[in-house]
Amino acid sequence: MTDLKAKYLDLISGAGDESTLEALRVQALGKKGEISLQMRELGKMTPEERQTAGPALNALKDEINSALIAKKAALGDAALNARLQTEWLDVTLPTRYQRQGTIHPISQVTEEVTAIFADMGFAVAEGPQVESDWYNFDALNIPGHHPARAEMDTFYMSRAEGDDRPPAVLRTHTSPVQIRSMEASGAPTRIICPGRVYRADYDQTHTPMFHQIEGLAIDKDISMANLKWVLEEFVKAYFEVDHVDIRFRASHFPFTEPSAEVDIRCSWEGGTLKVGEGDDWLEILGSGMVHPKVLQAAGVDPTQWQGFAFGMGIDRIAMLKYGIPDLRAFFDSDLRWLRHYGFSALDVPTLRGGLSR
Ligand code: PHE
Repeated sequence: MTDLKAKYLDLISGAGDESTLEALRVQALGKKGEISLQMRELGKMTPEERQTAGPALNALKDEINSALIAKKAALGDAALNARLQTEWLDVTLPTRYQRQGTIHPISQVTEEVTAIFADMGFAVAEGPQVESDWYNFDALNIPGHHPARAEMDTFYMSRAEGDDRPPAVLRTHTSPVQIRSMEASGAPTRIICPGRVYRADYDQTHTPMFHQIEGLAIDKDISMANLKWVLEEFVKAYFEVDHVDIRFRASHFPFTEPSAEVDIRCSWEGGTLKVGEGDDWLEILGSGMVHPKVLQAAGVDPTQWQGFAFGMGIDRIAMLKYGIPDLRAFFDSDLRWLRHYGFSALDVPTLRGGLSR
């Protein structure tokens, strides 16, 4: 028995791989293995002989088993170490520049606009995309019977049965954020609110989901003149030109009084847009002085405070600046389009470093 023990422990420690180990296991402990055969011999022994031979054989079996397990683990470790040696990686090597993903033009333009307004002291505010009709309409002086409600092509959400509140809506503009933000922080305030908005409309310049950016400035003595200056500065910075001509055209929005649509002078010579020169006018946004009823609805006293608001389409100004002809392509996730119109993740727009490439 001591011979058997020495023999197997020796063989096991010399095994070079798992299949040799398995063969040894069968040879010793398998059904017809050397040790199993000896176990069978126990039956032929006298009870006295069996009393010493039995436990000794069992101990031998256990010992060989643990030797097999230990060797198997050691072989596994050695294999892993060998693999780690060959798959070694130098994490201090410089990266190989390979542009994979790009920043979507909508994200880029949102960053650009945010950088410009941040420079003029506007903070960014956000609100929910699923709104109550109070925030999206009533608080903005658009009562139930107002034609603007119908014109907005609103998506209404359904309520659970038995819930008789008016249906929630997908916000049709970013103006509800004006209300939420004044409710939360009162006046004075200077904010912009970029975000997604929804209207049931679909053609080359309309998609059911698009992006707007809202601006709001409330203080004691803010006038249309401040609005005009802010917008001129914005257009110059955004289109990266030294001079712009801005035209206010009388308009109507329920939430502003007076209201104006804002056009910029431009030319389309040769099919490309040039801002600041030429004989054409391009409409870029809606604006006006915040209606006293809107201030009131947001808990701001209209006898103390006044200010301006404006709203513009981010997608629209992105199309204009970067010469993108079809709005629908923005949301197609076409890799070729994304690579063509996308921006490098390292091109963070700043006023000093340059807004775009
Ligand atoms: N909310 C308006 C729209 O979606 C834009 C706007 C905002 C106009 C603020 C005036 C003031 O068309």
